[in-house]
Amino acid sequence: MKNLKWLVYLVLLSVTVGGCKMQNSPQGGNEEILDYASRQIGLQLAEIAKSGKVLNPRTIKKDGTTAYIDREDWTSGFFPGTLWYLYEMNGNEALKEYAVQITESLDSVKFLTWHHDVGFMINCSYGNAFRLTGQQEYKEVLIQAARSLCTRFRPAAGVIQSWDADRGWQATRGWKCPVIIDNMMNLELLFRVTAFTGDSTFYHIAVSHADQTMANHFREDYSSWHVVDYDPETGEVRKKNTAQGYSDESAWARGQAWAVYGYTVCYRETKDPRYLEQAQQVADFILNHPRLPEDLVPYWDFDAPRIPDEPRDASAAAIIASALYELGSYASADKKATYLAKADQIMASLNSPAYRAEAGTNNFFMLKHSVGSIPHGAEIDVPLNYADYYFLEALRRKMNLEN
Ligand code: GLY
Repeated sequence: MKNLKWLVYLVLLSVTVGGCKMQNSPQGGNEEILDYASRQIGLQLAEIAKSGKVLNPRTIKKDGTTAYIDREDWTSGFFPGTLWYLYEMNGNEALKEYAVQITESLDSVKFLTWHHDVGFMINCSYGNAFRLTGQQEYKEVLIQAARSLCTRFRPAAGVIQSWDADRGWQATRGWKCPVIIDNMMNLELLFRVTAFTGDSTFYHIAVSHADQTMANHFREDYSSWHVVDYDPETGEVRKKNTAQGYSDESAWARGQAWAVYGYTVCYRETKDPRYLEQAQQVADFILNHPRLPEDLVPYWDFDAPRIPDEPRDASAAAIIASALYELGSYASADKKATYLAKADQIMASLNSPAYRAEAGTNNFFMLKHSVGSIPHGAEIDVPLNYADYYFLEALRRKMNLEN
């Protein structure tokens, strides 16, 4: 890692300055949250800098140490993206220094074709890097990543295949072409690259995937199945299952969050009113659900059997808040007021001591109480880098709306 001493100096300086400001502002105001984020992520960076390596934190392991991840992990774009958002909001050059290093460490991900998450990984890291720096090489990475994602398009089914059916635990499920609702989040990359290249192939693949998902992934009440398995030869739907939810017929909380976010992006990029309607219906399913707790931070699955004694999922809440800030800006006046008020309520909850870690604790992640995958016994009631990413994105959207 280059300029290590300089980086540590700048990060620690920002921590001190942030700490001073925080003493004067009550918890939960936008500026206070920003100061808190600067402090907590500054401490994370100072910890990483001690190692002398480019490290990418994901969560806390069972032994209490930080899990740092490889570039091919599906979450590798979130910590770089968090640094870019924070840099955008506080202008701290030390953050940019590390954001550049960690983003560029993901360069080879643009060739990744063995799962669909290249969209998350590259759009959150390089996508923000390009948005904030305008550096042309970053745009090239986005274009190559979109090409890699499109290798997973299955024309007969009209969808992008999420996971390989013959790999890891997925190989035990009898799937041929599994598509998960999370995959809606990869479409933003394709829309952006359409604009960069003028090549409508990316656009048509994104729209086809969104349409097939709308047709096959939703129940009458607009809740979503997690996994839909297609026959890649005929396009026929073979199975509707779950992987990370409580049961095949349950509503896994983060899946609902990905759905409302994904269709909001599709509306932004196409202005097709069907996508706006879909996003609103999913938002209303979530917000009107009788088992959504008063603080609006969902249990990990709306149908988990022991509610209220089930873990909450702060990552789902952060994704929903961020989506609602954008959806509110497209919705009619009455819905807009509801969506923005609910997003503010979620942010207030996440900023309370119940979810927001004290600075210097929680291995320097911001939010506590997220869930990775209960069926896999993995990451239950822990911090997750994507909870922090969408929390900061929601803060940025909130601040933009208020300014
Ligand atoms: N995309 C995987 C998850 O939401 O856990």
